[in-house]
Amino acid sequence: MRTAAAFVATALAASSVLALPILQLRALGPDGPLVPSNDSFYEPSSEGWQELDNGAIIFDFNARSVYQVLYKTTSATNESDATAATLFSPAEPVSPPKILLFLAPIDSASPDCQVTYALENGGGSNATDFLQTSVSLDITWALSKGYYVAVPDHEGSKAAFISGVTEALAGLDGLRALLNHNETLPSADNYTAVISGYSGGGHASAWASQFLSSYGQDLNVVAAAYGGVPVDLTSTLDLLSNTSGAYLAVGALTGLANAYPELDEFYQQALNPNGTETIELARTTCNSGLEAPLANVSVYSLFKDGEAVLQEPTMRKYIAAGRLGQPINDTSLTPVANDGLVSIPAFQYHSVTDETVAYAPVPAYYQGQCARGAKIHFSASPGLAHAVAFFAYAGDAFTFLDNALNGNITQTNCTDSLGIEKLPGSPEYIEALGQDAWSIVEMILNATGIALPGSS
Ligand SMILES: *[C@@H]1O[C@H](CO)[C@@H](O)[C@H](O)[C@H]1NC(C)=O
Ligand SMILES: *[C@@H]1O[C@H](CO)[C@@H](O)[C@H](O)[C@H]1NC(C)=O
Ligand SMILES: *[C@@H]1O[C@H](CO)[C@@H](O)[C@H](O)[C@H]1NC(C)=O
Ligand SMILES: *[C@@H]1O[C@H](CO)[C@@H](O)[C@H](O)[C@H]1NC(C)=O
Ligand SMILES: *[C@@H]1O[C@H](CO)[C@@H](O)[C@H](O)[C@H]1NC(C)=O
Ligand SMILES: *[C@@H]1O[C@H](CO)[C@@H](O)[C@H](O)[C@H]1NC(C)=O
Ligand SMILES: *[C@@H]1O[C@H](CO)[C@@H](O)[C@H](O)[C@H]1NC(C)=O
Ligand SMILES: *[C@@H]1O[C@H](CO)[C@@H](O)[C@H](O)[C@H]1NC(C)=O
Ligand SMILES: *[C@@H]1O[C@H](CO)[C@@H](O)[C@H](O)[C@H]1NC(C)=O
Ligand SMILES: *[C@@H]1O[C@H](CO)[C@@H](O)[C@H](O)[C@H]1NC(C)=O
Ligand SMILES: *[C@@H]1O[C@H](CO)[C@@H](O)[C@H](O)[C@H]1NC(C)=O
Ligand SMILES: *[C@@H]1O[C@H](CO)[C@@H](O)[C@H](O)[C@H]1NC(C)=O
Repeated sequence: MRTAAAFVATALAASSVLALPILQLRALGPDGPLVPSNDSFYEPSSEGWQELDNGAIIFDFNARSVYQVLYKTTSATNESDATAATLFSPAEPVSPPKILLFLAPIDSASPDCQVTYALENGGGSNATDFLQTSVSLDITWALSKGYYVAVPDHEGSKAAFISGVTEALAGLDGLRALLNHNETLPSADNYTAVISGYSGGGHASAWASQFLSSYGQDLNVVAAAYGGVPVDLTSTLDLLSNTSGAYLAVGALTGLANAYPELDEFYQQALNPNGTETIELARTTCNSGLEAPLANVSVYSLFKDGEAVLQEPTMRKYIAAGRLGQPINDTSLTPVANDGLVSIPAFQYHSVTDETVAYAPVPAYYQGQCARGAKIHFSASPGLAHAVAFFAYAGDAFTFLDNALNGNITQTNCTDSLGIEKLPGSPEYIEALGQDAWSIVEMILNATGIALPGSS
């Protein structure tokens, strides 16, 4: 077990976003932190940890206001799992406490690319710039408002990217870990919490929101805001195959097999030799190193049957179960049955021209939720690239979450709109983000030259 732990909580506010690392949470000697698969922190060392309640803290690092903890959760196949989270307490907490559960776009099937590690080690973690900037935007916003923040490794210890069940259970248990961690949160009395996430983190947020009614009844989560959400596997594979984003398609196929041994076994006989190699690469390489070698790969060509692999019974089972909104109760897929309905008010957003996460299935998903009584505001916006939509919608998303945390919940049924309300750079946008978070967006704009709609 590691003893040398030094935390610098203030680094977040001071750091330059694109210049890594975001946070230097643990100073561990000349070579810096170990990758998770080499780090005994990630291996529960106490006897009987499997018997603990979900969300129970197994081990933590002490700090002034940022802690990294290892907590107990349950895998999609109902095994005990231990995964990590970074827990932030604000300098000036509001009372009663308000909490952001932020589910980051980890988007990787390699256990060495977890967001906890990225927060600890910045650029040394091989995390993408997008992961780092999006994490720092949401954390900065919440802390500046006086909210507590939990950022869990919601893919679990096996990096089960795109396994919605894993993301829901490990994500919600990450909130439990914060509630249990009295050094971060001295008293959880009368707390309220919200969930946010984008892209792969939006996937996790939508699944976690769906599981609140069955796995989170004890949690006071009052609203969620998520965008760029993949609704099903096949439309995403079709969109990304043969493009520069093919690594994300491979990551999704791999992450799902990390969650389910049955699917992994199926792959072993269904893949071509280059497919086996490609899956292994996705298991061991972070996205920053995966994009180039997998650029323009046809994902179906990795399987002996090509695209027809989608018709194989095992593949069909996992594709059907992975469809967002689908009720799920087969105990080989989930330890907790779930009706697939988002029970809390939610704000969902998506660029109509999203090149990374298919827009096509989103409206039907939204309509399906609404027909079953959901309270979702859905906003679509044309013309934005996937990463740009995250920043462009930040003002609308934060406002929705802020209203909910302040007891102003007006979303009583489904509503939808076209376009962004608080345009980036407008006074309303800057007010919604707060000066600290706005500085991060400004820095990104200045560094990348990306033009957001509305900003000059
Ligand atoms: C993990 O540890 C082994 C043995 O010490 C070392 O050879 C390997 O390079 C380490 N892996 C990484 C990614 O640091
Ligand atoms: C905080 O939690 C620890 C470990 O669970 C416990 O020993 C301690 O009494 C708690 N402190 C307070 C002030 O509740
Ligand atoms: C929690 O809410 C109850 C009921 O409104 C109130 O009596 C109590 O003082 C509150 N506690 C805290 C710590 O805010
Ligand atoms: C990708 O390219 C391959 C080979 O050119 C082609 O057969 C396939 O239809 C394309 N599309 C997808 C979604 O794989
Ligand atoms: C991280 O990047 C370094 C340098 O490119 C590479 O050697 C290492 O294998 C990468 N690790 C992971 C887990 O991607
Ligand atoms: C991938 O395809 C695009 C479009 O055809 C092309 O511009 C790019 O150079 C290709 N990349 C690689 C690594 O082959
Ligand atoms: C993988 O191997 C198959 C069979 O040899 C081949 O048809 C396919 O083009 C290869 N795919 C890639 C991405 O290399
Ligand atoms: C399980 O879910 C299916 C829908 O996917 C539903 O038809 C069936 O009634 C459910 N079974 C139970 C026991 O809830
Ligand atoms: C999951 O495991 C727990 C503890 O081992 C057991 O009590 C429970 O019945 C299992 N759930 C399912 C759905 O198999
Ligand atoms: C409550 O939220 C609505 C939008 O849902 C907004 O128009 C209104 O200004 C908010 N009220 C307060 C007091 O913030
Ligand atoms: C939905 O809620 C809005 C206000 O939030 C209201 O104007 C509208 O009439 C409601 N629609 C339905 C069908 O109840
Ligand atoms: C971004 O550029 C603008 C215009 O040049 C400048 O006013 C602003 O200070 C810069 N912001 C940051 C955070 O670098």
